[in-house]
Amino acid sequence: MKVAVTGANGQLGCCLRNILNDEVVFLSKEEMDITNEYETLDVIRDMEIDLVINTAAYTHVDRAETEKDLCWSVNEKGVRNLSQALERRNGKLIHISTDYVFDGLKKEPYVEENETNPLSEYGLSKRGGERVLLHSNINGVILRTSWLFSPFGKNFVKTMVQLMSQNDEIRVVQDQIGSPTSALDLSKSIETLISTKFPEKTEIYHFANSGYCSWWDFATEIKNNLKLSTVIVPITTDELHQTAKRPAFGALSSKKFENDYSFKIQSWQSSLKNVLKEIK
Ligand SMILES: NC(=O)c1ccc[n+]([C@@H]2O[C@H](COP(=O)([O-])OP(=O)(O)OC[C@H]3O[C@@H](n4cnc5c(N)ncnc54)[C@H](OP(=O)(O)O)[C@@H]3O)[C@@H](O)[C@H]2O)c1
Repeated sequence: MKVAVTGANGQLGCCLRNILNDEVVFLSKEEMDITNEYETLDVIRDMEIDLVINTAAYTHVDRAETEKDLCWSVNEKGVRNLSQALERRNGKLIHISTDYVFDGLKKEPYVEENETNPLSEYGLSKRGGERVLLHSNINGVILRTSWLFSPFGKNFVKTMVQLMSQNDEIRVVQDQIGSPTSALDLSKSIETLISTKFPEKTEIYHFANSGYCSWWDFATEIKNNLKLSTVIVPITTDELHQTAKRPAFGALSSKKFENDYSFKIQSWQSSLKNVLKEIK
């Protein structure tokens, strides 16, 4: 089975390079732009790809409110192009999605069966991509994750490490709750999916490190691990004036994945320690 990863130079793409074997093909946007129907068909056919791990996405949550066409083109049409190309080869698709498909009104972690109700253009377009896969003729997995961090790409942990090393005081949001997730742990879950049993019909799974917290708690844990003295001032979402709405509570329950794949998921605090060691 020949496996390809899209969005190879993104955060998750870089983590997968560290985890998956050498036979996997890594495709950057330049090598395969998933918004281009014909290029996607040609690459998947010519390289004889049987399974795609789609990490390619438009991920600028605020900018998506004004760049709607581009956002939908990558997050929805891109999934359609991949599904159509894979259908010709009887191939499979693992598609990465997000907690932003939920409205955040729940008070306990979201499970796969919960109703979606995205609040932003990014969330709507990611749900659009999920729908395309669910209604396609190929076999796939929708893997929803949240608050990714790793030594690669742009993410909250790297931003905080930099800000805390340069400032005596920073301001961080306290009223958005989520499940911080190591993109390296997520990569291991993807390796497990492709090396053990692939579902016989398209399934949705949640994968996040266990536990949940606010961005302020997350920043404080980073500060304590690094033994820094930066003052972290808690602020509200309203004070941030973000263009796009975010779910106030987006924690994900990964019990279904843990049970189906006998996969032990670490707490976000323990995975954070491992990632901070690598960043240092
Ligand atoms: N980061 C998070 O906190 C988070 C949370 C929940 C879910 N997710 C989901 O997890 C997945 C991976 O996220 P990530 O953090 O790795 O995102 P990322 O770092 O922004 O990487 C996305 C990659 O996709 C590429 N890309 C954009 N448009 C493309 C196109 N038309 N064709 C091919 N590649 C294209 C980007 O290339 P350019 O940079 O050159 O545009 C980038 O390399 C995404 O599906 C995202 O929605 C992320």
